[in-house]
This record gives sequence, structure tokens and C-alpha cells, in this order.
Amino acid sequence: MSALLITDIGLLVGIHPKNVLVLKGSAMGALPAVNNAWILCESGLITRFGSMDNIPTDLPTSLTSVSANGGYVFPSWCDSHTHIVFASSREEEFEMKIQGKSYEEIAAAGGGILNSAHKLQKVSEDSLFESASMRLNDMIKLGTGAVEIKSGYGLTVDSELKMLRVIKRIKEAFKIPVKASFLAAHTYPENYKNDHNAYIQLIVDKMLPQIADEGLADYMDVFCEKGFFSVDETDKLLDVAAKYGLPPKIHANQLSISGGVQVGVKHNAVSVDHLEVTDKEAVRCLSKSNTIATLLPSCSLFLGIPFANARNLIDADIPVALASDFNPGSTPSGNMNLVVSLGCIKLKMLPEEAINAATLNGAAAIQLSDITGSIAIGKKANLFITRPMSSLAYLPYSFGQSQIEKVVLNGEIY
Ligand code: NIG
Ligand code: FE
Repeated sequence: MSALLITDIGLLVGIHPKNVLVLKGSAMGALPAVNNAWILCESGLITRFGSMDNIPTDLPTSLTSVSANGGYVFPSWCDSHTHIVFASSREEEFEMKIQGKSYEEIAAAGGGILNSAHKLQKVSEDSLFESASMRLNDMIKLGTGAVEIKSGYGLTVDSELKMLRVIKRIKEAFKIPVKASFLAAHTYPENYKNDHNAYIQLIVDKMLPQIADEGLADYMDVFCEKGFFSVDETDKLLDVAAKYGLPPKIHANQLSISGGVQVGVKHNAVSVDHLEVTDKEAVRCLSKSNTIATLLPSCSLFLGIPFANARNLIDADIPVALASDFNPGSTPSGNMNLVVSLGCIKLKMLPEEAINAATLNGAAAIQLSDITGSIAIGKKANLFITRPMSSLAYLPYSFGQSQIEKVVLNGEIY
């Protein structure tokens, strides 16, 4: 693999020591950077960086040199919560929302997750792979360099496996790290509406063994929410998943105080995600754990539900990550630049906090912060180069836009 040298970097951002794997409390506000910098990538990794005052002379002979022309360089966004494998969009529900229908009302009218499941069950693996690849390509151009993808629009043995096989193909086809979460416990299929136990048994007896056998998932996810999966049901599913070596990353406290945070922490969840409605109990519980709080502000924006209270979480020394939640129902966008802006605008995170939450802490929320998520020697050279900016805060300030000029994956211009 050849080498890439990026010179004339206005600000090289996010230089955390390689052994710092997650940030919490006041550390979330520190985003170490070098002014007027260069960075060298070799064999796909970051090997050296420094100030333009000391540009090295012993550079590799086969070298591609690129000038950032004063633009900033960031570690790629790590989007730790997405549902990008889906059959089709749901803008008919978008119109219902505009007319005032709630998320629960739309679900009760046959919309929501079941709507996506009906559509996905009829679509081929190839077609799902193609559409998800297109979405992921768009996300990469917007700076995403690591991603988690969930199943959960299958809800039958065959369709859940189909989704997870699509994710496996994405892992093989793309140059970025990809993690898979198994989310058959997303909602109850119609035929199990009055027999929750039978669906849980289907997950336990038929889905989990085969998924484990084929190595199709890295995490177990459950939508722990009123009208979806109860705390007891979540507890049982996480117990069984643990036996198959699948740690939890769960949906909790999106629409109500669900007890999802507590059951997630009980099972040592890597992250609990959403937390739009969070009480003192949940915050206290999280602060005593190693679980990451993953916030999804573009979901709140799109659904018109409350925004999570990031300040309470950061003040309680809880590591906060930001992710997109890209899905056809609640968040039809995978734009992490917008997520970071909303982190600042609506969650009152400082630009440094929001950027750390979308890079190193995002990587930690998919257990990849040892290889990506910051600028450190030996980490993956997944980066993006922006236009010249007047300051770091310009990136979230210029909301709804992308300042990204070039994306670098594994030390190569994408
Ligand atoms: O994270 N909350 C559950 N799942 C998705 C939305 C699913 C859908 O509406 O299709 C979410 O918001
Ligand atoms: Fe989600």
C-alpha cells in the first residue's frame, strides 16, 4: 500500500492518545489539535503527524502528497446506531406526522416498523444490498468512516437472517469497519401480537442459534419501550444473547421512562441509545456503569419528540456518543454533520463535546476506539479534510451543510 502525506492542514483535530478509549465529564470538552499541520498515512494507518515547521525529510519514496490548503482534518465520524438496510422509504407516514399523528398512532394504523417489515419481506437480498450500499456511500461522502447497522425490519426467521446477511456483505464490500446488531425484538409481528412469549421463543430457539452459528451479529438490540418490549422481556432476551456472546446495545427511553436503561446496565450494555426521556434514576444508574449513552438528535428533530438532556449526562460523568439512527421511519438521514450541529444547537453540547461524541465515543460505542475515532499513531487513517474554516465551531455552526472536501479511508483518497 502506498503512502499519503497531507500538508498545509489549518487545524489537525482530535489528537487523543491511543490508549484513551472513551471520554467522559470534562474530558469530553477537550479536543486536542495542532495548528498548521501535516499527517502521514502508511499501509492504511496514521504513522506520523506534526507541525509544518517540522515537516520530515525522510519521507517514503512512493508517496502521494495532498495539500489541505488550510482546511481542517478530522478523524472520520463513527456512526454507532443505524438501520440502513430497509426496502423502501415511508414518506406517507411523514405526511401523517405533519397532520399531527403521533409515532404510536402511526404504528397502530399499520405504519411504523411493521410497514417496513412487510416491504422488506418481499425484497431480495441483492436489492437490499444495493440500496443499503447506496445509503452507506452517501454517508461516507459525508464523513462517516465506521458504522453500526441493525436488523429488525425482518421479524421472521428468514427475513432477519436475510438482513444480517446483507450486513455481512456490506462488511466485506466496504473499506470501513462495520458492526452488526440483531434487532428482531424491534416490534411484535402481527401474528404474535397476542402471544409475545411465542415470538420471544422464536428469537431464542430459531434465530439466535443460527445467527451465532453463522457469526452474523456483534450485538443484541431490543426496543425496550411501552407497547414494544417490556423490561422483563428485554431482560430475558439479553440473558440468552449473552450465552451466545452478544453484548447488548439497546433502544431505551425513547418515548417513555421504560426501565430500559436499568436493564441495559444490568447486562453491561455497551451502550443504551435514545434517552429522549430520562429521569434521575436512569442517570444515576448510568453514572455507576461503563455503559455509553448514545444520543440521536436527528430522530428527535424529525419526530418532534423531546431532545435528550446531554448536559445532565455529561455532568454526571457519563460518556455520551452521538449517532444518526438513519432509518425510514424516525430518521431518514445519515448525515453526521447535521447530527453534530444538532448536538450543539439542541443538546447544548459544545462543539468539542459534540465532535468527541461523534468520533472517539462513537467508536467506543461499537468497541472500535482502539483502532479508530481519533488522530493517533497506529490508528486507521480514516479522516476527512474540510474547506478552510475560520474556527472549529464553524463546522457545527454551518448546520445542514457539509464542509467536507475530501474523504480518506485507509490512507487513500476515497
Ligand atoms: O430507532 N425506535 C425504534 N426504532 C427506530 C425507528 C424504527 C422505525 O420507525 O422504523 C428508531 O427510531
Ligand atoms: Fe434506532
